[in-house]
Amino acid sequence: MTESFGAVVSGVSLAALSDNEFYAIETAWFQYAVLLFPTQCLTESEHFAFSKRFGRLERGLQRGSRPSAARIANVDANNRLLPPSSLPSRFNIGNSVWHTDSSYKSTAAKASLLAAHLVPTTGGETEWADMRAGYDILGDSMKVWLADKVAVHSFRFSHAWHGGLELLSDEDLAHLPPVKHPIIQVHPDSGRKILFIGRHASHIVGQPLPASRKLLRQLTDQSAQPPRTWKHQWSPGDLVIWDNRCVLHRGHAFDPQQARVMVRTTVAGDAPENEWAA
Ligand code: OGA
Ligand code: MN
Repeated sequence: MTESFGAVVSGVSLAALSDNEFYAIETAWFQYAVLLFPTQCLTESEHFAFSKRFGRLERGLQRGSRPSAARIANVDANNRLLPPSSLPSRFNIGNSVWHTDSSYKSTAAKASLLAAHLVPTTGGETEWADMRAGYDILGDSMKVWLADKVAVHSFRFSHAWHGGLELLSDEDLAHLPPVKHPIIQVHPDSGRKILFIGRHASHIVGQPLPASRKLLRQLTDQSAQPPRTWKHQWSPGDLVIWDNRCVLHRGHAFDPQQARVMVRTTVAGDAPENEWAA
């Protein structure tokens, strides 16, 4: 936790939240961007209900699909360990690289709510980086140069790089074409400028591909550093909500012989024309 980023919220039950408690939580979330609620042990329907208070939920990777709880797990439906070579394991490897959820969609996600169900004894932490502070530390000339730059974010690019592209059919992939997002954005709920980058960002429009790809990686490497980062070691029942519009996140490695089961819902970006919002 740093001065303005990341907070632990205790003394509330997310399964039985009054409107006033919710507004206090939402206000704290706008300020701290990442809120940890220790040992809430929500059922899936309670997890959904809490998520919906933040906005419309996001559809999955298939256009027209209903929002569902994404299971980020290295076990099958019967809790049997999957080998690291399995498709879900390979798909999830990409989560270990700094990213913001769904930035490859025309409207990126607003919030993600991740709950721990089964956790390894060590490792498997999730870490967040404050991209408001990441913007603040840029040099003045870089701030000016980036002000009008737009990055191309691409599901095909990031998943071809890290694996798991086969999870989607060609038809589904056709509905996830590369999209453009400004690199510098103003966070709508705090008015602060942020650096909007991460692993789905392929290159910068109008700039040479290798050089702009390298610059995007350098920007991520230099911004996602202490004191702008916060890492959480999960206990079962913990729930964290983060603001995808102003933080990056990544998952840390753990012993593949141990089960890790996380469940995530995603709140869609607020744009009224968001085709991914349900
Ligand atoms: C996610 C994600 C990281 C983790 O669920 O979006 O990136 O630690 N998870 O599981
Ligand atoms: Mn993620």
